[in-house]
Order: sequence, then structure tokens, then C-alpha cells
Amino acid sequence: MTMEKAIYPIHQHILEARQFTRKWLEEEFFPEVDYTADYDQQQIIFQPLKGSSICLLFYEPSTRTRMSFFQAATKLGANVFNTENAKDFSSAIKGESLIDTVRVVNVLGFDAMVIRYHLEGGAKEAAAASKIPVINAGDGTGEHPTQALLDIYTIYKHFGRIDELRVALVGDLKHGRTTRSLAYVLSMFNGVRLELVAPPELQMREDVLSFLQENHVSYHLSDNLTEVAPKVDVTYMTRAQKERMTKALEISSSGVCITDEVMERVPSKAIIMHPLPRSDDFGELPEKFTADPRVVIFEQVKNGLRTRMTILRMLLG
Ligand code: NCD
Repeated sequence: MTMEKAIYPIHQHILEARQFTRKWLEEEFFPEVDYTADYDQQQIIFQPLKGSSICLLFYEPSTRTRMSFFQAATKLGANVFNTENAKDFSSAIKGESLIDTVRVVNVLGFDAMVIRYHLEGGAKEAAAASKIPVINAGDGTGEHPTQALLDIYTIYKHFGRIDELRVALVGDLKHGRTTRSLAYVLSMFNGVRLELVAPPELQMREDVLSFLQENHVSYHLSDNLTEVAPKVDVTYMTRAQKERMTKALEISSSGVCITDEVMERVPSKAIIMHPLPRSDDFGELPEKFTADPRVVIFEQVKNGLRTRMTILRMLLG
């Protein structure tokens, strides 16, 4: 296998986690990320996307996702155009529609666009108007499929399997797109048990719960991480997304944060994940636990770079 080979195009767009399959994850995606990781680890210069150009269009704040797509594309040799805060700095502020912006990106000859949009469905709307691949980097409270890919890869590398794992998704499951996409991906595996741990007003939305029921995925709702933590292999923390709450809710963080007591009860072989950013005031994963070997949040970031390098190669290589 050489880096130069054209890799089977997976899908024209990456819009939602349900477009992946278990077979694709195991037979194509995981091996390709391993392969990318080998190259990246050895700092081998390979530029399969030399001559390509990628447009990053972010209408919402982002640190990791935008930086890692930028870095992934650059490492692969592509040129990158990068708009941060496109809501204010693109013609959107003059009233331009999303689809007109997408048409412009197409006409200007970009080879792919990565979009983060503030409304659910934004990436699909963009894809419908685009001949070049559109990658959803988060659409409001909708989905974040590339985060789910890096998360499932991180879990797979730790346990060597996904089947039969017990996973707690914790925090603001109502607004969090990372946990929604991850729930869809986890449901592709056999015998996975989900613990959905959230304050009642921030529990997982009905669409995901119905999907889990229809697909016979076992799940349990809780608001008490102290009880759940000893029983799971993966504890996936998230912050309260205050910016998405329509009314000011007094959300109690008690029961959905990592505390000393929770930490004592997390098994030594379990892992604690977080898509980041973590929130100091909500306090779901305090700084003092960062160096604990069970906390793998920066491994997720590294896998994020390699995941994005891999999917850009798969789409454009
Ligand atoms: C998340 C996001 O933007 O959905 N961050 C990320 O992409 N790693 C999580 C969040 O904003 O809380």
C-alpha cells in the first residue's frame, strides 16, 4: 500500500454519522487511519493532495476542528482557505444565502469544503447545492460526524473492539452534536450498552432514543455519574452548551461531572473522553484530572488530525 494510490472514494459528502457502516469503519477507515498515523508518526513528507484546494467555512466558533482540518489539509499538501466566524466576516452579514456562498466556493474551483454551520441541517443544505464534497464540521445541534469518527477510532485503539462495550455519554446530551453522532456510530456494533447521563432537562433527544430502540440498542437514562462510572468502559464527558439554550436554565452540574468520588470509582482500564472544549464553570472534567492515565482527551485531538487527514485522502486522493 502506498500513500500515492487513489483511495476508493467513500461518499461524495460527509454529512451524518449514519452514512457510515460497521464494515466501512472496520475494513477501510480504521486501517487507513492506522496507516496515516504511521506516516505522521515518522514525519514522512507525503503530499497526495498537492495542487488541491480546500475551503474551510466556519460560521460558528471552533478551535480543534478548524485547526485540525487546516493542519490535515496542509500536511497533505493542499492549499487552504480558512474563514473563521463566517457569520460576521463573509457576505452572510450582507444577507447572502448559504447556497449562494456554496455556489461561489464551487465556481472558484475549490476541491472540497468543510463547513460548520450554526443551524441543524446547514451541511445538508450546502451539499445539495454543491458539486464538490462537503464535510459537516458540526451543524448546530445536529451532528458532528468527523468527531464521531475520531472518537470511535480512539475507543477502538484502546479496547481493540467496540462490541460489548459499555459507554456512558454524559452532560448536555440535548444540545451536544458530538454525543448524538457518537450514539449513532456506537449503535452499529453488537451488544453495546449506553448509559445516557444528563440532568433531566438536558437528556438525549427523542430522535436518537427512537433510533436506539428501533435498532435494539440497549440504553439506560440516568442523572448520576457516581453510580454509572464503575459500570462502564468509556465515560464520554461534555459541557453544558449554554449558548444554545433558549431560556436561561439553572442547570445543576451535580451528578454529571467528574469528581474525586467519581474518579475513585472509574475502573483502572476504563477511559475518560471529552470532545473539548471543557467548561471551567460547569466543571465537568476539572483540570486536576488531566494527567490521569485514564483521561485520553489529547489522544482524541491527535486522532482527530489523523482522522481528518484520512478522510480528506479518501475523498480527494
Ligand atoms: C464540540 C462541538 O463543536 O460540537 N467541539 C468539537 O468540535 N471538538 C463540542 C462543544 O462545542 O462542546
